[in-house]
Amino acid sequence: VTIPEFGQIAWLPDNAGVQILDQTLLPGEERRLEITTIEQMAEAIGRLRVRGAPLIGVAAAMGVAGAIRRLGAAATRRAVLDACDYLGKTRPTAVNLRWALDRMARHADAVEEGETLGRAMVEEAQAIWDEDQAMCRRIGEAGLPLVPTGATVMTHCNAGALATGGIGTALAPVYLAHQAGRRVSVIADETRPLLQGARLTAWELSRAGVPVTVITEGMAASRLRVGDITCVLVGADRIAANGDVANKIGTYGLALAARAHGVPFYVAAPASTFDPATPDGAAIPIEIRKEEEVRGWTGVQWAAPAARVWNPAFDVTPAELVTGYLTDAGRLSAAELGRLRR
Ligand code: MRU
Repeated sequence: VTIPEFGQIAWLPDNAGVQILDQTLLPGEERRLEITTIEQMAEAIGRLRVRGAPLIGVAAAMGVAGAIRRLGAAATRRAVLDACDYLGKTRPTAVNLRWALDRMARHADAVEEGETLGRAMVEEAQAIWDEDQAMCRRIGEAGLPLVPTGATVMTHCNAGALATGGIGTALAPVYLAHQAGRRVSVIADETRPLLQGARLTAWELSRAGVPVTVITEGMAASRLRVGDITCVLVGADRIAANGDVANKIGTYGLALAARAHGVPFYVAAPASTFDPATPDGAAIPIEIRKEEEVRGWTGVQWAAPAARVWNPAFDVTPAELVTGYLTDAGRLSAAELGRLRR
C-alpha cells in the first residue's frame, strides 16, 4: 500500500512561481492554479484556495521565493520584507505563516541582493517544505501506536496532506497505519461552515483507500457515546506556551465531548505550530470571517436575511482537555511540552 501524491503544491518551472491545487473546488474539480505574484498568493491564502496551518507557511515561503526569483538582478531585501509583511496579514491565527515568513526575511538578511538573493530565497523555501514533509512523517510515527488494527479515528476539519506539504499531521498516523496494512477507518466531521471535513478529508482519505464516514459536528457527541471511537486526532493552528490549542471552530466542543465519554483526544502539530511567545489560548488572535460564509453557499441562501452571523474560524481548546501532543519530537504530555521548550 502506498500513500498517493496529492499535488497540493509544486514549483513552476525554474522556481519562477508556485502551482497550487485550488482547494475551494474540491471534491468536484481538481484544478491547479499558477501563482506568480504576491497579490495572487495573498488572494489564494485569504480565500482558502490553499489552507491548513503548515501548508500556508510553505505556500507563503514559496510565493515569496517565486516572486523574488522573477525579479532576477533587480531582487532586493526590501522587496522580500515587503512581500513577507503583506502575506503575513492574510490570516492571523495559524502561527506557521508568520514563522515561515520570518524565516524567509531572516535568511534574506545574510545574502547579497540580485540573482543570488532569488536563489537563496528558493533554497530557504525548499528547506521549509522539506522539513515540513519530514515533520509530518515523524508525527505519523509518534501517533502510530494510537492506531492499531481495527481502530476508528475521529477527526475534525482537514489536517491531512491537503493541510501540509507532506502526509498531514492528524492524518499522518492513519496513513502510516494504513500503509503498514492495519485495518483502520476515519469518522470525519463535516466542519461547518466551509466543509473541510466533508470536502477535503473525505476526498484525500478515499483516494488513499482509507474507509471514511462523514458526520456533521452535531453528531459527534452521539457517535462518541456509541463507544467505537479509538481516539480523536486533530491538527492545530497555534499551540500556546501552556499547551492551549487553537484549531478549526468546533474542535473545543469535540474535546469536551471526548472528555465526557473517556475517549483520548490528541493534537498533532509540527514545531512550526508551537508559539512560545503566546502564553495561553486567550492571547491567540482568532480570525473572524465573513457572515456570508454561514448564510449560504454558492448562491443558495439558507439563513434568514435579517439575522446577523458570528463566524469565528477557530476556537481554543484548553490544555487540560488534551490527552497528548503528537509532535516531530514524539508523543508528549502538556508538562513535557514545557520541558521541551526550556
Ligand atoms: O481554515 P483552515 O481550513 O485553514 O483551517 C485548518 C485547520 O483548522 C486545521 O485543523 C489546522 O490548520 C491544522 S492542519 C495540519
